Amino acid sequence: MFQKEVYIRRRADLKKLVTKGVGLFLGNVESPMNYTDNTYHFRQDSSFLYFFGINHPGLAAVIDFETGEETLFGNDVEIEDIIWMGVQPLLKDKATQVGVGNSAPFKMLTDALKSAVSKGRTVHFLPPYRAENKILLSELLGIHTSQLNEKRSLELVKAIIKLRSIKDAFEIDEIEKACAIGYEMHLASMKMAVAGETEQRIAGTVESIPFKHGARIAFPVILSQDGQTLHNHYHSGILQTGRIMITDAGAETAMGYASDFTRTVPVNGKFTQKQKEIYQVVLNANNYATSAAKPGITYQSVHLATAKVIAQGLKDIGLMKGDVDAAVKAGAHALFFPHGLGHMMGLDVHDMEDLGQIYVGYDEVTRPIDQFGAAYLRLGRKLETGFVITNEPGIYFIPALIDKWHHEKINHDFINFEKVNQYRDFGGIRLEDDLLITDSGCRLLGKRIPITVEEIEATVGK
Ligand code: GLY
Ligand code: MN
Ligand code: MN
Repeated sequence: MFQKEVYIRRRADLKKLVTKGVGLFLGNVESPMNYTDNTYHFRQDSSFLYFFGINHPGLAAVIDFETGEETLFGNDVEIEDIIWMGVQPLLKDKATQVGVGNSAPFKMLTDALKSAVSKGRTVHFLPPYRAENKILLSELLGIHTSQLNEKRSLELVKAIIKLRSIKDAFEIDEIEKACAIGYEMHLASMKMAVAGETEQRIAGTVESIPFKHGARIAFPVILSQDGQTLHNHYHSGILQTGRIMITDAGAETAMGYASDFTRTVPVNGKFTQKQKEIYQVVLNANNYATSAAKPGITYQSVHLATAKVIAQGLKDIGLMKGDVDAAVKAGAHALFFPHGLGHMMGLDVHDMEDLGQIYVGYDEVTRPIDQFGAAYLRLGRKLETGFVITNEPGIYFIPALIDKWHHEKINHDFINFEKVNQYRDFGGIRLEDDLLITDSGCRLLGKRIPITVEEIEATVGK
């Protein structure tokens, strides 16, 4: 955990933004896989981590936004727990570690909230995403589970997004650590990408790397020669000469900060001419987005300008046709680039998505685009110094989508379907880097994983 002053400052900043009522912060509990004592890896709630830093299950905290008083709720372990889990720090010591003045047994939380409600005070809470906390919140506040999302405090949501969107130097350090592990994961994947190797063995190696560093994967590894399936978690293929393999993987440090990178390599390391041409378009798009991202412009505009780089590149190859600006306006590029350019990253790989993507990625001025492809853009609003974001353009040949557009004559003025059909077995290419928005532009986080055609060809299988 960070120094306690970091958490004290964060809570003080929150109290400046929310000044009335009480804030309830539920940590996560252990979650059983198949029976109570056989649990999934424990993952603390990210907002709880951000303000209270304590990576233990079974905790909650309340901040009185009017008196400033803070209380940590939880239970100290009994002798029977100690036999199985070893000695645990006392609740009051956990509270002291992060500068929280009061601690109380978990059962007192009910009284604390009842007392606030009976005085007509607002209890601010965040939208719960886990069943256990939905049930607990419902019991604590007397709100049906189906109503919890609607009744969450938008004021608290917006205040937290405002704070967590801007990463401080301590957080950047942690993200850089996650990036360094991500670099190792991707190098390992590239080195193993030779014909006859299995996707499963490569994925196994990639997953083992963060674990060796006391970290975890930030999300299930995407690793496949079938990269046209955007989130392909199946690793059943055997690598074949002539195919390309996508690896989308990142680490999460012990403190919960993520990295998220994607690289695509030809099996055995040598691109065919056809692969090289498409690869270069995606690389141009990635480089363009890095050159364009800076404070004061919207990521939506960077997304659309990057889509034009892709459309122009595909037109040069003969896969698209017509006016590039008009093609992007019509959304024709989305046949090949059907997702957004990127998202916020931090304590979550898709940072703060639990709080409501619309509030994380958009505001009153920048609204989502209601069009296939661009509608998936998770971050559209104006960039600010201190944002950490991903830059992940891609080009994919998705046979089912090609057939649908072809048969339904969707954007047929801009697509050369005859040529596109020659790429049906191509797969997909995505190139993803992590960026920190700086005062003057942005910088890449972590050492850049090999990305040029020359770098890839010099790394794969070596
Ligand atoms: N790893 C999923 C993503 O790139 O958003
Ligand atoms: Mn990714
Ligand atoms: Mn990503």
